[in-house]
Amino acid sequence: IPTHIYSDAKAASRAVAREIAALIRQKQSEGLPCILGLATGSSPKTVYAELVRMHREEGLSFQNVVSFNLDEYYPMEPDSLQSYWRFMKEQLFDHVDIPAGNYHIPDGTVAYDKVAEFCRHYEDMIEAAGGLDFQLLGIGGNGHIGFNEPGSLSNSRTRLMMLDHSTRAAASMDFGGLPRTPRKAITMGVASILNAKRVVLLAWGERKAPVISSAVEGTVTEHNPASYLQTHPNTLFVIDGAAASGLT
Ligand code: F6R
Repeated sequence: IPTHIYSDAKAASRAVAREIAALIRQKQSEGLPCILGLATGSSPKTVYAELVRMHREEGLSFQNVVSFNLDEYYPMEPDSLQSYWRFMKEQLFDHVDIPAGNYHIPDGTVAYDKVAEFCRHYEDMIEAAGGLDFQLLGIGGNGHIGFNEPGSLSNSRTRLMMLDHSTRAAASMDFGGLPRTPRKAITMGVASILNAKRVVLLAWGERKAPVISSAVEGTVTEHNPASYLQTHPNTLFVIDGAAASGLT
């Protein structure tokens, strides 16, 4: 997997934001929507901050952007402090001119017996939009992309997923302890991600070094879902020096 190593997350994020901005502007010049797959978590925050800056200072418009987020906890109310809905509003959507109907985040409030139908509808909306032009990803310490935990298959689609213990433990600080941390999430599948025309994965810090090295240099395996990206023809890993420290 092609990997670009930067001195720090900020420099790396600037490069990724520039790529996204160039894609948005290119689609604008063609009169087309730009279909973005977006991630939450700590890694993309610096990318969103740079996009907001470009909107404010460089006139970057999001009028033609249509976006689909990877995942949302389940169950989860949108106005809850930990919701990915709130995260996206606070980090990006409330600060740029993306039309309100243009962004989509899996709905953590759908009734349990309607989740499968919701997930099919989410896939259909992505397809109807013409597919993802660009997918931004983080990576879990266990290799998850979106919330495709180890064991996820390469043909998996949007679905309800049981979260790994390690994923819940990492999130438990935000939820005030493990017992209050959701056990499930709705996530786009591995196949949904691999269908994107371009994939950029971000990883910062030493904590990610082992999983980055096995995703880039190990075998393609369901034990590290990020390793599936080896089979994608247009993926780039953008990482800092610490996350690169396990690469040979
Ligand atoms: C978030 C997501 C997750 C995170 C991953 C890394 O939408 O899909 O896969 O990208 O858990 O999280 P951070 O960036 O907080 O280390």
